[in-house]
Amino acid sequence: MKFFIDTANLNELKKAKMLGVLDGVTTNPSLIAKESICSNKNDVYKHYISICNFLEKNNGDVSAEVISTNYVDMIQEGETISLLHPKIVVKIPATENGIKTIQYLSKKKIKTNCTLIFSIGQALLAAKAGSHYVSPFVGRLDDISYNGLNLIKEIKTIYNYYHFDTKILAASIRHPLHIIECAKIGVDAVTSPLNIISCLINHPLTKIGLEKFLKDYKNKIC
Ligand code: E4P
Repeated sequence: MKFFIDTANLNELKKAKMLGVLDGVTTNPSLIAKESICSNKNDVYKHYISICNFLEKNNGDVSAEVISTNYVDMIQEGETISLLHPKIVVKIPATENGIKTIQYLSKKKIKTNCTLIFSIGQALLAAKAGSHYVSPFVGRLDDISYNGLNLIKEIKTIYNYYHFDTKILAASIRHPLHIIECAKIGVDAVTSPLNIISCLINHPLTKIGLEKFLKDYKNKIC
């Protein structure tokens, strides 16, 4: 399973690289808006390029989301974003115009990530349109008392039946169990803030065990 980092922050990406969990990056307009260096469209585009350049040469991609909502503008924006860097994947919302845009861009061999997926129907149409990724939002479904992980399981089952090439990129990850359950389901990738991935490391028995090893060693060996 690939670990993508859900951020537009280069410091967070540096830390992820050191931990060996930087297989790709996803951003969205809210994450971009958090970065103080992005105050106009040019800054945003330059920032996408910096993120792409930060990834290893032969590995990983960066999802950059369109902010247009009508078909013609989405296509134009998607094509512009895709030209910024070969690692860019154009992120498109799961709306009717979005699905049409995905179909258009995928015919032109431009990789897309269909985002804001909350239902099997949306995931099916995104796959039919040729999206490279779908991003089902696990945490936001949990927030409204739907089981986000069930949606992931169902999409996985259906994609397997019909041999869709579209990859499942589980998004809106809120805690380490989301990551573990996604791994058990066999998703292609999860995208998560780094602090949640870091939680996977912690175990009280590791801490207790290490303390005892060091104490025993120090008591005997000078
Ligand atoms: C990534 O593709 C999504 O935009 C992101 O995971 C959404 O996360 P949130 O629901 O925590 O905002």
